[in-house]
Amino acid sequence: MKPLDPRLLRHARTTRTFLVASAVLGTVTAGLVIAQATLLAGMIARTFLGGADLADLRTPMLLLLAVVAARAAVAWLQEVAAHRSAAAVKSQLRGRLLEHATRLGPRWLSGERSGELATLATRGVDALDGYFARYLPQLILAVTVPLAVGARILLGDWVSAVIIAVTVPLIPVFAILVGLATQWKMNRQWRTLSLLSAHFLDVVAGLPTLKVFGRAKAQARGIREVTGRYRRATMSTLRIAFVSAMVLELLSTLSVALVAVSIGLRLVEGGMAFETALLILILAPEAYFPLRQVGAQYHASVEGLTAAGRIFEVLETPLPDTGTNADVPDVRHATIRLDGVTVAYPERDAPALDGFSLTIHPGETIALVGPSGSGKSTLLNVLLGFVRPDEGRVLADWADLADLDPDAWRRNVAWVPQRPYLFAGTIAANIRLGDPDAPDAAEDAARAANVLGFAGDLPRGLDTPIGERGAGLSAGQRQRVALARAFLRDAPLLLLDEPTSGLDPESEATVVDAVRRLAADRTVVLVAHRPALAALADRIVPVEPAEVHA
Ligand SMILES: Nc1ncnc2c1ncn2[C@@H]1O[C@H](COP(=O)(O)OP(=O)(O)OP(=O)(O)O)[C@@H](O)[C@H]1O
Ligand SMILES: [Mg+2]
Repeated sequence: MKPLDPRLLRHARTTRTFLVASAVLGTVTAGLVIAQATLLAGMIARTFLGGADLADLRTPMLLLLAVVAARAAVAWLQEVAAHRSAAAVKSQLRGRLLEHATRLGPRWLSGERSGELATLATRGVDALDGYFARYLPQLILAVTVPLAVGARILLGDWVSAVIIAVTVPLIPVFAILVGLATQWKMNRQWRTLSLLSAHFLDVVAGLPTLKVFGRAKAQARGIREVTGRYRRATMSTLRIAFVSAMVLELLSTLSVALVAVSIGLRLVEGGMAFETALLILILAPEAYFPLRQVGAQYHASVEGLTAAGRIFEVLETPLPDTGTNADVPDVRHATIRLDGVTVAYPERDAPALDGFSLTIHPGETIALVGPSGSGKSTLLNVLLGFVRPDEGRVLADWADLADLDPDAWRRNVAWVPQRPYLFAGTIAANIRLGDPDAPDAAEDAARAANVLGFAGDLPRGLDTPIGERGAGLSAGQRQRVALARAFLRDAPLLLLDEPTSGLDPESEATVVDAVRRLAADRTVVLVAHRPALAALADRIVPVEPAEVHA
């Protein structure tokens, strides 16, 4: 893993400013370290050899105080800069991640990706704190301080400078070797951890099933075994971390001792001034310290770096080429033609749709019927522009859907998906999503979709809060809220995917009635299993399952 991922500079511009600020502060720190050592060495030399008393040392004492205060101020500034830019970079990355994922579309997001994306955008991005606040500033100090200190020592005594120049590079070399070993272990540990959490989630979610079939005890054994493996992996990683800290500590102590011995010998022979010797002795450990710290901070930022790597992979996934033409034909009066549309999902033998053709006249209501898995929802996804046909095309009058700007096209479409998604919030807020600019019409839409039928009985009515994914509402109630959302949208093309599947005959009748009123001056494509809904249609179009191609 590189110490500084160049992609971080590309995707989060604040990083650049932060690096410049850190470099300036790092240089100032290096200067202050040298100033502090010079003042200390001077004061000690004057007290012991020059016999100076406290009054003589007033000025250097005050200067020393000032230097210490300045070091504190620089550290504070560094901390402030780090946290500010970490916050800015985190929100930049989150924004870009979500934007890019949205543009990659539902087809990319389907499957296990949405779970990973959620983890990345929350915990993964937060893990960058350690990287920005600790690791990066330390990395810069590890360059500026040893260089400045080394230069100062070279001015005083070249022999010590040579000893330091030879031994200092050993620290990063050892740290990298240890880092490689840790990384390897860490990856293995991550795999065990994700195995453990996936397994645990699975068992907890399936506990009732396991209980009924008498398999709960056996699962506990399985979890105990994986936990044991995880514990052993953690302990061996920790062992490496401790041993590496010890090795680096030992290395720098021995190097400083080497400098001390050579200085001591020359002091005895009278080849060196006491003050210079003292200065070099005080400065020498400072050359090693920041490098050792980098090693320690590295362990704290590995998680953030790993997450950042995944984030960049997502950000660099090429976007599907969508059209850009915002000049959408008047959908209310447009004929929509599907022309030999074929959609094949990867890793499936049979295409979901195979050469499907259909002409939808303006104002027409079409019911799609067909067995489960025959491609009805896929067809609606094609009309929404979520899925691009692998072959064939979709035309709205003269315009090919592939050339149109997807957002401009979707402004003309209202959609009730097969499993409607409701967000945490109130019922009313979920309906208003259909058209945030028409808040007053929400109640009418709620009435039309028969939401008031159940919300009217709740103490807070439409202002009743619901949980994520519409928790707290039954499947049929969620469907009606989604319908109200589509009603409020007032779009010329209405796509309904089994909008009455969760409803009893009575509610179904009210919804069918509402759909009939809504369909009056709109083009409607609905997926209908129930006869009551299919009866609304001007035309019933069968969707047959595609054959497996040899
Ligand atoms: N994201 C996907 N990845 C892979 N295959 C998919 C995906 N979505 C759908 N399929 C497959 O495509 C085929 C058509 O699915 P689709 O959801 O369009 O069927 P449907 O007609 O709406 O069925 P139902 O009546 O049960 O809702 C199915 O075989 C399904 O397994
Ligand atoms: Mg479906």
